[in-house]
Amino acid sequence: MLSDRDLRRFVDQGVHLNLDTRSALRRYAAIPGHLPTVGLRLDPQVRVGWGEDQQTRNARTSYGGSKFGFPLDQVEEMVEYARGLGLVVDTLHMHVGWGVQAGALPQLVDLWRRFAMLGAQIPSVSTLNVGGGLGVPHRPEDEPLSVAAWAGALADSLSAFLQTPGKSLACEPGTFLVAPAGALIVEVNTVEDRPSGRWVGVDAGHNINVYAAHYGIPLVILPLLPPREGPAMRVHLAGNINEANDVFARDLLLPPVLEGDLLVLYPCGAYGASMASDHCMRGGVVQRLL
Ligand SMILES: Cc1ncc(COP(=O)(O)O)c(C=O)c1O
Repeated sequence: MLSDRDLRRFVDQGVHLNLDTRSALRRYAAIPGHLPTVGLRLDPQVRVGWGEDQQTRNARTSYGGSKFGFPLDQVEEMVEYARGLGLVVDTLHMHVGWGVQAGALPQLVDLWRRFAMLGAQIPSVSTLNVGGGLGVPHRPEDEPLSVAAWAGALADSLSAFLQTPGKSLACEPGTFLVAPAGALIVEVNTVEDRPSGRWVGVDAGHNINVYAAHYGIPLVILPLLPPREGPAMRVHLAGNINEANDVFARDLLLPPVLEGDLLVLYPCGAYGASMASDHCMRGGVVQRLL
């Protein structure tokens, strides 16, 4: 959903784009100075990654059949459409989702094989871009697809395409690189017993780390210092934003925690940080980032 203003900015910078609407192709082609080549983003039509299992099912994090990408069976039509606008399609792109688990590999291999066949059918296509998707474990039962398995399966599924001279593979890993790149340290400011349980409140919320509230992805939550003696407490850990969903964890087992203690929340990079907001005027995060 790019504006002309966005597109002009990319043209000024000489950025190669993967576009996924006729509208963007048409408007990009009309901007003087655009590159002669363009990529097409395709809808993988498979649903893998976070948001696809029952526990985290959440249409907001699903990619297959979502708002992104041309349907696979429209590729040739879109290549022709681009050609009519004076654009040569040199890249086919798709992004399957994020936090892809090892168990999704057979679906991915099947998809990548079809992707390679599509690429081979269009002589002007020199790059297949497989997007991102690699993740980090969030829950004990998580088994993220490993880099080795991902790379091996890609090399295997795309081999016929990649062995042709001049053809290449591109990828866009994000979460895998930066999600584990930091931890969020918060201070406990409230310990309150209510009929719904013991609520522990901290001085940060989903304005700073959205994993739990927005995606339903649990965080690792631990005391910063060696745990206090005493029986574990079962608590709900709440953030300081005026939204009922601003809860980092429910029914979390913690060592005894007192007001003033510090907790570590992990991970906090990638979406945790980049989706920061100034909601409730907390933190001025966005202004600081800008
Ligand atoms: C087109 C595209 N490429 C790459 C990424 C990064 O994906 P990840 O962080 O899951 O590796 C995203 C994330 O939304 C994306 O939309």
